[in-house]
Parts: sequence; C-alpha cells; structure tokens
Amino acid sequence: MRKSFIAGNWKMNLTVTQAVELAKSLVKSVKDCPHRVLIAPNFTCLDAVSKVLPGSPILLGAQNMAFAETGAYTGETSVLMLKDVGVQVVILGHSERRSIYNETDEIINKKVKLALTHGLEVILCVGETLEEREAGRAIEVVNAQIEAGLKDVTAEELSRVVIAYEPVWAIGTGKTATPQDAQEVHAAARAKVGELYCPKCAENLIIQYGGSMNAGNAKELMAMPDIDGGLIGGASLKAETFLPIVNYDK
Ligand code: PGA
Repeated sequence: MRKSFIAGNWKMNLTVTQAVELAKSLVKSVKDCPHRVLIAPNFTCLDAVSKVLPGSPILLGAQNMAFAETGAYTGETSVLMLKDVGVQVVILGHSERRSIYNETDEIINKKVKLALTHGLEVILCVGETLEEREAGRAIEVVNAQIEAGLKDVTAEELSRVVIAYEPVWAIGTGKTATPQDAQEVHAAARAKVGELYCPKCAENLIIQYGGSMNAGNAKELMAMPDIDGGLIGGASLKAETFLPIVNYDK
C-alpha cells in the first residue's frame, strides 16, 4: 500500500522571515497526518526552516543540487551542504531547471545518483511540453526522461526515488491535466519502471502529479489509482491553500 506524499515547492519565493512563519503555521496544523508532507524552501531559507521542523513529521526538501560534491562551482550548492542543514529530500529535474537552465537528462542523472549515494531521497520531475502532448508524444517523452534520469540507479536506491509527473503546460498556468489524462501517463510511467526494474519496484513507486494542483482539484486527482501525491508550487505558498491539499481526504 503506497503512502500519499504531498510536497510544497516554494520555488524562488519567500524571505527567511516569511518562510519561517509559513513553516511554523504548517507545523502547528500537520500533526497526525496519514500522508507524507514535505516543504522545499529556497537555499537561503533551508537552515532557518530546518530549525522549526524538529518534532514535526514535515520533511525538509531542497529544490536543486549541484552535480559535483565539492569544488570550483561558483553559485552551486552541494549535497554535503544540503545534508548539513538537515535536508532529507531533493527535487531534481524540475522543468524550470530543464528549460531555463538547460539541464539535460545526463546532468539530472548525475545529480540523482549523487543524491542517492549520499542517502537523500529524490523527487525526479518529468513531463512533456504542450507541443509534445499535441503531437501525441507525452508518454514517450516522460518514459524517456525516466529511463535517462534513472540510468545506473539500483533497485535498492530506487526505493528512495519518487517520480513527479508535471506536464510543463500545466505548471503555474492554472491549467490542470484532467485526472484521466494524468492517470494515463502515471500508469505508463509505472509500467516503464516495472520494465526497467521489477513489478514490485513499480508497485511500490510513489508518483506525484504536479501542475496547478489546488484545493479544488486535489481530491479528484488523488482518487486516480496511479496518482500517489502532489508536487505543489503556487498553492503551497500559503497555509490556507496548502493545508486543504494536504488534507484532501478529510
Ligand atoms: P504549480 O507548480 O503548482 O504552481 O503549477 C508546480 C511545480 O512546478 O512544482
């Protein structure tokens, strides 16, 4: 039985004071939640937010990570630095990283392997553009990103990988994939992981949906058999819009 996993990706929003304030109000409300819950503040807020979380089930996530461990990489943040401030999970391959910062599947795969080697959990983001969807290539694109992103990842390491299906055209646009369309891609992604690893590995894999998920559509999306959680951007920036998603089944 897979445990639902609701994650907030705060992106490049909130100052330290605002991030701590939001984290504190979430800690107050998320106590006996049956789901896994994560918040991913930006790098400058991680340390301060980590100090709010002890005793809370809320997990601390980072939004990105360097592909190398240490060295001359001006502007980058290492896996060691993330672990040092208590990060447990790292989001990798987000479409904004792929499209704005030209991260390739090869770079993302390097990051995935490095994070897993250091014991972190990974949320590997995949998703097709509108053009690719309209050309009928959504599943092909997503499956290729999964295969490349997980290259040389062992079955043991896979147990610390979550896949987030985020159709690029649905991110921050207010357009959500229909639950049926999302389900189709999630089922295909799960089958792909079954092919690459084993049926049990596929069965246990958590696949989140991301792209304009909100309090109004979360329940319907989460009702789909292969949708196991959400990666939420805009609606994760306020407790009053994030908590109803966390509590989608109440
Ligand atoms: P959104 O972002 O919820 O604002 O569409 C989701 C994401 O990019 O992770």
